[in-house]
Amino acid sequence: MTLLNLLASRSSRMKASEIRELLKLLDQPDIISFAGGIPDPTLFPAEAIRDAYAEVLGGAEAGAALQYQVSEGYLPLRRWIAGQMGTLDVACDEANIFITSGSQQALDYLGKLFLSPGDTALVTWPTYLGALQAFNAYEPRYDRLRPEGGNMTPDAYRAAAAANGGKVKFAYLVPDFANPTGNTLDRTQREAVLDLAGELDIAVIEDAAYRALRYDGEGVPPILALDCARCGSIDKARTLYCGSFSKILSPGMRVGWVCAPRHVVEKLVLMKQASDLHSPSINQLVMHRVAESVFDGQVDKLIGAYRERRDGLLGALEANMPEGVTWSRPEGGMFVWATLPEGSDATELLARSVKEARVAFVPGNAFYADGTGRNTLRLSFTLADRRAVTEGIPRLAALLKR
Ligand SMILES: Cc1ncc(COP(=O)(O)O)c(C=O)c1O
Repeated sequence: MTLLNLLASRSSRMKASEIRELLKLLDQPDIISFAGGIPDPTLFPAEAIRDAYAEVLGGAEAGAALQYQVSEGYLPLRRWIAGQMGTLDVACDEANIFITSGSQQALDYLGKLFLSPGDTALVTWPTYLGALQAFNAYEPRYDRLRPEGGNMTPDAYRAAAAANGGKVKFAYLVPDFANPTGNTLDRTQREAVLDLAGELDIAVIEDAAYRALRYDGEGVPPILALDCARCGSIDKARTLYCGSFSKILSPGMRVGWVCAPRHVVEKLVLMKQASDLHSPSINQLVMHRVAESVFDGQVDKLIGAYRERRDGLLGALEANMPEGVTWSRPEGGMFVWATLPEGSDATELLARSVKEARVAFVPGNAFYADGTGRNTLRLSFTLADRRAVTEGIPRLAALLKR
């Protein structure tokens, strides 16, 4: 017998992507990779983290670090995060903060909390692939959000959702240095998202994974801050802010958070109890110590290093890419998004590029909920040293010219 006949319908949308298969080839040392969207491990604050584990385990906190923990998360860490949110003009306290195992878990929980099968989630085309994977398990339909302009009318979104037998439940977006495009929404565009969400009476999921990594230009207030200014209190807001320590301190420790109205936090706490009880206590205690002591310095260090790599990549694209190829110029984050001439296929290009140019990137179409975007690709610059840009980009460009 095959157990695969017994699977729930939701599992039909859980598929290994062809890209993952291709990216497995990238361990070979001669490949120059712009594919992995990961922080540079040589920049992790390893010493501070090692010391914090030693202090926590060697002192009075050892018991708490190794014990079960409340599902909402370690209180001093939640207070520290609430303080950080305050600096972003989001007045809140620990009751508004919920600790997750990375912000990826927050996306899963929010999908689980809001989406019944057939409901509609509004997402940008393209959007973060991990969000689509998290939401897919709850069997939604996607409709296209165009925060840069060109949204449908609220009635049209509503009618399309109803025709599918569900309701529009939330708009999900990455407003700062998005994965995969690197684009940032300005204040007017963020206000327009809130206007649309108000008219549709839906939630806004603000994925702020890259927010701290701004290399130039002025910061834009979080959508949650604009929402709080409109409604007077976070507990009346419709925006659910997903934050993460992954890009600044360590993705391996798996600590993220949701900042949200307390009635939503209370539901998330019940979900966490049923799921994994709580995120690892020891990692939360250590993250708190490390965040208190090195967070700001670490942000400065990463900004210096990644800005230089972004500039190196943008300069190499400018110098080498043939006419007809365009790309984003991100003010922060980790990604540059390139668009090839209409009719090109970046998945095919990747296969050729790995074989002939020994250069890797992520084809863009996996980031599109409707499977389009075949002529787009994502380049990550966090690991792009001088050799990568001075050799890799000319090789990719030469392949494109052919
Ligand atoms: C936009 C975005 N959101 C969320 C995540 C998940 O990050 P983590 O679960 O490590 O916080 C990522 C990771 O790449 C991301 O790019």
